[in-house]
Amino acid sequence: MTQSSFPVSAEFVAAANTTPAQYIKDYQRSIASPKANDDFWAERAELIDWIKKPTVISNVNYDLDDFRIKWFEDGELNISVNCIDRHLKDNPYKPAIIWEGDHPSLHKTLSFTELHAEVCRLGNAMRKLGVSKGDRVTLYMPMIPEAMIAMLACARIGAVHSVVFGGFSAESLGNRIIDSQSKLVITADEGVRSNKHTPLKANVDRALDMDGTQCVEKVIVVHRTGNSIPMSGRRDVWYHSVVAGESAECEPEVMNAEDPLFLLYTSGSTGKPKGVLHTTGGYITYALSTFRDAFDIKDDDVYWCSADIGWITGHTYSTYAPLANGTTTVMFEGAPDYPTWARVGHIIDKHKVSVVYTAPTAIRSMMKEGDAFVRESDRSSLRLLATVGEPINPEAWDWYYEVVGGGKCPIVDTWWQTETGGILIAPIPGTVALKPSCAMTPLYGIMPEIVDSDGEVLEGLAEGNLVIRGGWPGQMRTIYKDHERFLQTYFTEYPGYYFTGDGAQRDEDGHYWITGRVDDVLNVAGHRLGTAELESAIDSHPATVEAAVVGMPHEIRGVGIAAFVILKSGETKDEQIKEELNRHVRREIGPIANLDAIYIVDGLPKTRSGKIMRRILRSLAAGQYVGLGDLSTLADSSVINKIIEVLRAED
Ligand code: WTA
Repeated sequence: MTQSSFPVSAEFVAAANTTPAQYIKDYQRSIASPKANDDFWAERAELIDWIKKPTVISNVNYDLDDFRIKWFEDGELNISVNCIDRHLKDNPYKPAIIWEGDHPSLHKTLSFTELHAEVCRLGNAMRKLGVSKGDRVTLYMPMIPEAMIAMLACARIGAVHSVVFGGFSAESLGNRIIDSQSKLVITADEGVRSNKHTPLKANVDRALDMDGTQCVEKVIVVHRTGNSIPMSGRRDVWYHSVVAGESAECEPEVMNAEDPLFLLYTSGSTGKPKGVLHTTGGYITYALSTFRDAFDIKDDDVYWCSADIGWITGHTYSTYAPLANGTTTVMFEGAPDYPTWARVGHIIDKHKVSVVYTAPTAIRSMMKEGDAFVRESDRSSLRLLATVGEPINPEAWDWYYEVVGGGKCPIVDTWWQTETGGILIAPIPGTVALKPSCAMTPLYGIMPEIVDSDGEVLEGLAEGNLVIRGGWPGQMRTIYKDHERFLQTYFTEYPGYYFTGDGAQRDEDGHYWITGRVDDVLNVAGHRLGTAELESAIDSHPATVEAAVVGMPHEIRGVGIAAFVILKSGETKDEQIKEELNRHVRREIGPIANLDAIYIVDGLPKTRSGKIMRRILRSLAAGQYVGLGDLSTLADSSVINKIIEVLRAED
């Protein structure tokens, strides 16, 4: 914990939506009692246009015998109406989405009126294809406006979307389609990023060859690149054909606040990815409310969140929250390095972006290329910068602050998770001096606690596991079709609390520093990958016997992937097999699962009961060969020295 802090400029503070004293007052009031907490959220629910206003606010109980999480349970609403229709009266021509294509010559703006028409057309088309309330729809899309349109069209007709990141493999896509039993898939012929094409439709075809995907009746394909792709006569339809001739009005489905809005699969510490389920009323109230607070949003902001819609940030803070608030959201198809590393600055200038929200990995990769690229732009439109997804190291924070923001924009480090639906911990800009790498203070209504491994709540200066007392409207409701796993994962280890899976420190000012995952989830470049998933992908290669995967420090991606692999006897331990294993894992999971280091070993450190001691492997992968802690529970301690020999040989 470095304690240097950066006061927010007087100019920013003067224009901020709240003041330091007001934040403290409002925060204290929001958590003063369960009744006060309900009153606070009832006030925030006023930001939403309800068809039927809720009279019940929270109904949350983490007691396993009588477990429930419900918010605004008798309320009725439609989220697409909140994101679009309600802005038509006052702001019909305001840009809702500014799309910047992969190539700098491509851009497109959709006003709220245009967005309304597009969403309605697709909603009508989906209804005609037989999709109705509660049906699941998988989206496997590039970063094009049709991706957001499809999410909103699902919300309009009450279908539950499950967005699968376009960088996941056919196999990963197939597994998610099988779990969600989707009726419809929406995709594009190809995705384009850094002038490279991804064969999205071909991946869908491969996924739909998998047993268990017979649920899919139709595939809607957006024409993005126009390169030829096979279309199956009965199953596949072009997006432009199905929406052609559809009405620009579509009756919104009346949704109960607790009706599902979407599923989003994320990695856990064990087993296959889990379908995190979010519902309607609480999610949108939380998304909108935290968006205003954390980013100090003004009416004329042009807001750019760089997250892909395949991740929770792309759901909550690229799509739902800005649009519900009537804020212009910028969507970028490409990557920061194309055509050159100056692209991000050029986009900021071109669209007069005022708020940027991105991940530390992107900042580190730009920083590595030097300041000159960024200085090609003037970025005078910027007023606020934000980060998410992983701890931001002080060097990257300083560079973001000084070089990108020119020393005048506060940096909002936002901590949250797929499960939490929205930001839980972040400095509300203008209310507190910023400490680099510190997520700082809880948002209104949120009660973080730090517990030790026995579940004892620690007061004051503390380090331990981060848990949350009580609920909040945006929290997940269950793991799709596996409520038991939901209870087990989040509510069993520390009874009465939501367990985040993260470690944290609290400093003498009461500010929170996130120290990283305490479970077997790796946060690689801000993307979650379970060690269990990676290990089973390696194990599925015919040359391997067993593998153990741990995180290791990585200069750009924060956390890299290190694999310790035992090969079958007779296999040659050479570079070729390592390359083959890496290709295999990328094929199984997707290119984000790149193995940064592969060590071929003869044995793994295991306890007598056969559990892999990842703690030891983590130290070894980080280059720490001595001071490995208590080794007395190891079944065979000689494996350690043998692994060290392998590591030394690679140095
Ligand atoms: C990590 C992303 C440090 C954390 C919204 C969490 C962070 C996981 C931060 C969730 C932050 C997220 N500082 N770590 N500001 N934000 N994390 O589900 O480990 O993709 O548990 O949600 O990312 O990742 P997820």
